[in-house]
Amino acid sequence: RKLENQSMIEAHKLAANFYSHLLLNTVEGEKALQYLEQRGFSREHIENYGIGWSLDDREVLSQLLQRKKFDMKEMEQAGLCIMKNDGTGYFDRFRGRVMFPLHDDNGNVVAFSGRILSDSKEEAKYLNSPETPIFEKGRLLYNFHHARLNVRKTGKVILFEGFMDTISAERAGIMNSVAVMGTSLSDTHLTKLKRIANQLIICCDGDNAGWEAARRFAILAQQKGLDAQIALLPGKMDPDEYITTYGGEAFAEKVIGNPHSYMSFTMAYYKRSKNLSHENDVLQYIHEVMEELAPKVSPIERDLLLRQLNTETGVSAEALREQLTKTVGKIA
Ligand code: CTP
Ligand code: MN
Ligand code: MN
Ligand code: MN
Ligand code: MN
Repeated sequence: RKLENQSMIEAHKLAANFYSHLLLNTVEGEKALQYLEQRGFSREHIENYGIGWSLDDREVLSQLLQRKKFDMKEMEQAGLCIMKNDGTGYFDRFRGRVMFPLHDDNGNVVAFSGRILSDSKEEAKYLNSPETPIFEKGRLLYNFHHARLNVRKTGKVILFEGFMDTISAERAGIMNSVAVMGTSLSDTHLTKLKRIANQLIICCDGDNAGWEAARRFAILAQQKGLDAQIALLPGKMDPDEYITTYGGEAFAEKVIGNPHSYMSFTMAYYKRSKNLSHENDVLQYIHEVMEELAPKVSPIERDLLLRQLNTETGVSAEALREQLTKTVGKIA
């Protein structure tokens, strides 16, 4: 790492300690602490992940950085402060948010994601640091530095959309998870994961965006030569909601312990939007599944596929086999 970035890293370390202190030891932090407790965070979680609170006050961090003789122009570049319109000083980027430090692969805090306490339409739920010389969103995986050893040991990594899911997964004893923080998985992310794991379990949110993300992630992971499976959640839940509702044990056993193959996921993906008691939907379903899977499945999977389609739709095995052969021919 370039030496010139060192003071940005020091400033983030200072800021993280400051936010953590405000959360844990001050009256102002109490409502945030309550919020986290309500969401099932233990004191241990809060400390392990370095979670904090940024005051509603407009410039308390900026003043601290100034007192510590940090170059304020640099602090603005680092995404911690913003210059006032009249140029007379700086105010803090993060105010009134629960602060989640984001670490680089060496465990340095290089950015923050701040969450508001109550969801509102006016304000974004999460405010993140901008791209800076020390933080590129497309490279960073939440919890990578923490999980790395466990991932290496097991050869397996769980991939979530959000860092809340990674933190909750600890309650299920899952210590080998990372999060992309959104729905774009980059080649850099995959390269990092491939270096330490051969098996990837993708566990995205149960909403539409999550299903689409899971599909994209699985395709990209396979292209990268990772063995990818997809863990699915009931309804529109996300992993954190599932763990809060059903507990960590159920999550570890039923969700993460029972992931779907790409084939099985693909069938579930196309089945989602269909009513298989309608003929049109049946035709469409069979068509979509075959187009997608015909060129990819092994002879054994092909057999399983035909049997499952037969059970689900009532279409005869012979007709399905014939259709599949046609589809393969058309694609080849
Ligand atoms: N995200 C973001 N900005 C937003 C919404 C989401 O940066 N306005 C990113 C965050 O990194 C978040 C991830 O996308 O971790 C997943 O989004 P979402 O599923 O909406 O968040 P949750 O992890 O479910 O957060 P919460 O449970 O607190 O609602
Ligand atoms: Mn989501
Ligand atoms: Mn979510
Ligand atoms: Mn959530
Ligand atoms: Mn299942």
